[in-house]
Order: sequence, then structure tokens, then C-alpha cells
Amino acid sequence: MPSVRIGVLTGGGDCPGLNAVIRAVVRRGIDDHGHEIVGFLDGWRGPIEGAYDDISVESTRGILPRGGTILRSSRTNPFKRDDGPELIRATLDKLEVDALIAIGGEDTLGAAARLYGEHDLPIIGVPKTIDNDLAGTDMTFGFDTAVQIATEAIDRLHTTAESHNRVMIVEVMGRHAGWIALHSGLAGGADVILIPERPFDIEDVCRLIQRRHSRGRYFSIVVVAEGAVPQEGTMEIVTGGEDEFGHARLGGIGQRLEHEIEQRTAIESRATVLGHIQRGGTPTAFDRVLATRLGLAAVDAANEARWGVMPALRGTRIELVALSEAAAGLRTVPVEDYEAAQTFFG
Ligand code: F6P
Repeated sequence: MPSVRIGVLTGGGDCPGLNAVIRAVVRRGIDDHGHEIVGFLDGWRGPIEGAYDDISVESTRGILPRGGTILRSSRTNPFKRDDGPELIRATLDKLEVDALIAIGGEDTLGAAARLYGEHDLPIIGVPKTIDNDLAGTDMTFGFDTAVQIATEAIDRLHTTAESHNRVMIVEVMGRHAGWIALHSGLAGGADVILIPERPFDIEDVCRLIQRRHSRGRYFSIVVVAEGAVPQEGTMEIVTGGEDEFGHARLGGIGQRLEHEIEQRTAIESRATVLGHIQRGGTPTAFDRVLATRLGLAAVDAANEARWGVMPALRGTRIELVALSEAAAGLRTVPVEDYEAAQTFFG
């Protein structure tokens, strides 16, 4: 392919490893293929409003271990406005950008799939999310880092739980899927893990804690995903506002559990919400390597004009899959994985 201009953007929640993808896109794109790289700012806002920076090998030096994204991000939805797709096309034409690499999760890649499928724009996706819930790939970068951070937090909370005979509730991220809760809970030796895929009965949770205490243990750790919900009619919960993609702002289930567990068991309970700490800071080595491999594969796909695809981890290999696969649904925790974790409950 002759030398062209390739745009890159990062959309949705930030995620450890985004800068590693950008670095790989730049290094492979410029050094190996002779292309120019345009960095669109703030997710889809960049190509909609023409906000961009030219990025170079020099300007991306030192970003491999940095969390967040040097291109910044937003939850802008290009389909929220009628002229969104046409504005993106106009920006690409004006800047003579021949390919756009969109790094993001379900919303960013969902928009990318539509921009390619319905508007024939030359788009390639790169899957990211700490939630690890994207279809089409076996794993996303950012997840390993989030699990590492959450596990360390659970280890540290054990200290206070043991010293004060308390139930410590740890609320982790995971809007639709409980991967972070499941893996950090298993790694941290949680006594109960609650995930969105399995509406819980608060009575069962309290029974498990009481069973543990009746067997001579005097503290418990409960790990709950932010998107976990009680079975209908068993316990009240509240949610906040919505973003441009219609997702509720979550957070609060930990506090509700703290109250309910203490009321029902008479054991002192305390909740900790890990929140954005799970997305912050340096990526693990695993995430840096996965992100780098995906960035390299994305530029190679652009070089071959393979639009409407994303590189994905399949087993141990990186393969190109249709963007529509990522947009088709979410990858949630299988029943058998949760049942395996239940062995250690209570
Ligand atoms: O999608 C990733 C995620 O981290 C979710 O787990 C969480 O619900 C959401 O992002 C939080 O987004 P924001 O940073 O916009 O509050």
C-alpha cells in the first residue's frame, strides 16, 4: 500500500494499555509502512469536530507504561446526532485520512461497526475494556491490570477484616459481566462473590456468612460487581443518571450490602468501592504485550485495506474478526465458572 494517513482514537472509559496500542500503531505505521498517523482527540468527538493532533514516534516515546490515553477519551456517540457519520466522513476527507483505527469497548466498537456497515467508512477496531466482556475476543487488555489491582485491595482488606471481626464488602467494576469480581474474588479468597449474571438473594448471602462464622471464622470478605442485582423484590437498589449510550451510572450496591448484611447478621460490616482505581496507573506486563500485539495487527490490517474488522485474541493467537462480532452481544461469565467459585463460598 502506498504511504497514507491513518487516524486513531480511543473511546469510552480509559483502560490500562491504551497508550501501548497507540505506540504500536505509530511505530509500525510510521517506521515499517511509511504512513502518517493522526491522533483524534476525545473519542468520537475528535473526528466529528475535527479535533486532532499529528502524532509521531518522538511524541509517543515513553508512553508504554503509562495508564490512561494520551489522546484522551469521551463517551460521545456519533449516532446521537443525525449528521454524526457525515461529519466524520467530512473530517477524514478534509485531513486526507484513509483509515481510522477506533480503540474501544462495546459502545465505541458498536459505533465503528455501524459506521463501516451502514456508511462504508474505512474503519478498523481494537477491543479494550477492563470489564473483559467483549464478544469476538477471548480477552481484552486492561482486564489483567484491573484484576491485579482488585486482588491486592482484597488482600489488604483482609487485614482489617481479621483484626476487627468484620464483614468487608469490596465493590469492583463490571457493569454487565462479573469477570473482575470473579477473578479477583477467586484470587483474593473471597467468601462470597456476586456478579450481574446471577441475581442474588440477600438471605443466601447472609446464610453463607453465618455458616462461615458458625465454623469458627470471625470475618468474611464479599466481592460484588457494581452491576450485581438482587433477585426481584428481595432488596432495593438505586442507580444514577445515564450516558450518551443509555448506560446507567452504577455504584452503590456495596453500600446497600453493607447495610443489609449488618442489619440481618448483626456482624459489623464495611464497604469499600474501588471505582476508577481499577482503571488507573500502569498496565501489567500481560496487558502491555496484548495491547502491543493488537496495535501492530490493527495497522497491518489497515495496510491491507481490511475494513470492518478488529484484531482479537483467540487462544494465544491474534486473529482478525468482523467488527459486527464484537457488536453482536456481550461475553458474560459462564455458569460453570461461577459454580466453580461457589466451592469456596461460606
Ligand atoms: O466499561 C468499563 C467501565 O469501567 C465499567 O465497569 C463502569 O461501569 C464504567 O466503565 C464506568 O464509566 P465512567 O468512568 O464513565 O464512570
